[in-house]
Amino acid sequence: MINDSFGSDNHSGVHTEILKAMEKVNVGFSIAYGDDEYTKRAIEKFYEHFGREIDVYFLYNGTATNILGLKAVVDSFNSIICAETAHLNVHECCGPEKFIGCKLTTIKTDDGKLTVEKIKPYLTGFGDPHVAQPKVISITQPTELGTLYSVKEIKKLADFAHKNKMLLHVDGARLSNAAAALNLGFKEITKDAGVDLLSFGGTKNGMMFGEAVVFFDKKLSKNFEYIRKQGMQLASKMRYISAQFEAFLSNDLWLKNAKHANEMAKLLYEKIKNITEIKVTQKVECNAVFVMIPKKYIPTIRSKYFFHVFDEMNSIARFMCSYNTTRKDVIVLSEIIKKAVLEK
Ligand SMILES: Cc1ncc(COP(=O)(O)O)c(C=O)c1O
Repeated sequence: MINDSFGSDNHSGVHTEILKAMEKVNVGFSIAYGDDEYTKRAIEKFYEHFGREIDVYFLYNGTATNILGLKAVVDSFNSIICAETAHLNVHECCGPEKFIGCKLTTIKTDDGKLTVEKIKPYLTGFGDPHVAQPKVISITQPTELGTLYSVKEIKKLADFAHKNKMLLHVDGARLSNAAAALNLGFKEITKDAGVDLLSFGGTKNGMMFGEAVVFFDKKLSKNFEYIRKQGMQLASKMRYISAQFEAFLSNDLWLKNAKHANEMAKLLYEKIKNITEIKVTQKVECNAVFVMIPKKYIPTIRSKYFFHVFDEMNSIARFMCSYNTTRKDVIVLSEIIKKAVLEK
């Protein structure tokens, strides 16, 4: 049987603490649509981590969290600036274009990271009715290529956005991995750095389902209740998302899970970095390892461990680690890679 540990952090099961939390709330009756005591408790947890000046809303999945969060702040005549590799651009089936109806302005990068210098040439046409009006810079932290923005880099982007009367959005589907890698709290890497709205992820770090839109300026969330409902993401049995978030944000569960995933990626990197026939193409800063593996070796390795070839043209494979990736699997995978390239 093919081992699936490195395909995606989504391939993981649900952490037992999360399942226990869901079972605990699975008693009796509870008011639906988020008006229940469990949801209040989960929101309190968000306040503990981000401060009380936020508005937070729970949704089922990450795609909707990005699209509906952005819909709250963007009109159809606006543009959102993002990296070409952004999930928003590549893996949301033009959902932003359909549901927000705006333009995505995409920027080529080598490492998935936007910079002020890269964005500047695209900020044209302010006030010109013939031109889509730039409104949001959207970055992913950590990026889709496993790389990390420092707080200083985020601050620079936020200042630049605000100077241009724009907003900074963070797709934080894996924000826990970023916070663990930076050894900082969620607030320090978002609100304190000037981020305006955040897609906060739970699913990739041990939850069954559940993501959150966090608005750091309450004026931005004015219509979000309606947008979430119209966007078909208002969960009736909300308590099962809320219970997960309460557990996730308690006793450092998010941190333990993310730290482990990051450590496994570092270990994989250490084990394969000196194999001359392959090349690690991105800095290993969180829980992803990107490796250029000549096409001829891929079927052999993939017959034992599944992984995605992220870039077919350049034969770049992506190995994702998660909270339950084992040390043993990392070592066996690295040996299989070594053996495959030496045998050919
Ligand atoms: C960076 C990023 N953002 C958002 C998502 C969306 O998550 P979902 O698959 O839950 O819609 C993903 C999922 O792979 C992701 O990697």
